[in-house]
Amino acid sequence: MQDDRFMMTGYRDEDWDHDLSLRPRNLREYIGQDAVKQNLTIYIKAALGRRDALDHMLLYGPPGLGKTTLACIVAAEMGQNIRITSGPAIDRPGDLAAILTNLNAGDILFIDEIHRLSRAVEEVLYPAMEDYALDIMIGKGPTARSMRLDLPHFTLVGATTRAGQLSAPLRDRFGMVFRLELYSPEELAQIVKRSSSILGMPADEEGIIEIAKRSRGTPRIANRMLKRVRDYAQVQADGKITRTVANEGLNLLEIDALGLDKVDRNVLETMIDKFGGGPVGLDTLAASTGEDALTIEDVYEPFLLQLGFIQRTPRGRVATRAAYEHLGRVMTSLEGEEDPQLSLFDENQ
Ligand code: ADE
Repeated sequence: MQDDRFMMTGYRDEDWDHDLSLRPRNLREYIGQDAVKQNLTIYIKAALGRRDALDHMLLYGPPGLGKTTLACIVAAEMGQNIRITSGPAIDRPGDLAAILTNLNAGDILFIDEIHRLSRAVEEVLYPAMEDYALDIMIGKGPTARSMRLDLPHFTLVGATTRAGQLSAPLRDRFGMVFRLELYSPEELAQIVKRSSSILGMPADEEGIIEIAKRSRGTPRIANRMLKRVRDYAQVQADGKITRTVANEGLNLLEIDALGLDKVDRNVLETMIDKFGGGPVGLDTLAASTGEDALTIEDVYEPFLLQLGFIQRTPRGRVATRAAYEHLGRVMTSLEGEEDPQLSLFDENQ
């Protein structure tokens, strides 16, 4: 599935092959993230006009919103190659030095999960980003000398779900920082429509909207659901995706009308049933639900926050009235949201 423009370095992404044909290849095909697209269009044009490499760029936001896709699009729009790797794949400073010295002028180096680089590896990146230079130590002990190697002008595109975990020196070296937002149902409907047409799947408007509404603001989920609904349509219906077929297919996956899955509901039900709606700390919630704390924070919470089903407070997470109503529970006046003290400290970040 790779062509000459790509080089993967120790990179594993379960969705890479699976999504390749559905990924937009240029900014014009890319749906949503309008502010990011508008800025990128200008910066790419300017860099091309100067015949210079694009400045380093950090993309952050929840998983599945198209960070890797955007990096590939930047490379395509700049007419350059992209090298793809990830923080956990770069173990030692020497690994990064090897990648950097193999770059050509103008190349895009994409590092996914960049917050997982070790401090020692990060330190190799600083001069590389700032001065296009690699400082290497020759020898050991008192006779050790440092030598500087020039690197070609490249563009680092870093991606992370947790910008807060990036060290300040690394964050400060990115000339562009873009936050990707969850997609609106309308944008997701456009994406599902495009994907169904690429995959040659007959789908009517209402079926498309049903999938879009239930894919928690995330194109990766929308495309996955589309494929599962296609399977359902093929086996249980006449092959066409309609509202009824989408509904039945998604119900089978235990996705509810708002797109919440079993884990979302388990998180909310645990908060309500075991902790009186909260506040409850993230680690306690993780232990009680059997989910990983980072997964709750990165994958589940952004959508529950967007729906207004939970609030983050310094004392922990709180389930809101909307969450109670969605789950068909009754909220007593003693619970979470009703506490006026809580809103005074609500950081909601
Ligand atoms: N497929 C996945 N994400 C997409 C996007 N943002 N635009 C178009 N197609 C997509």
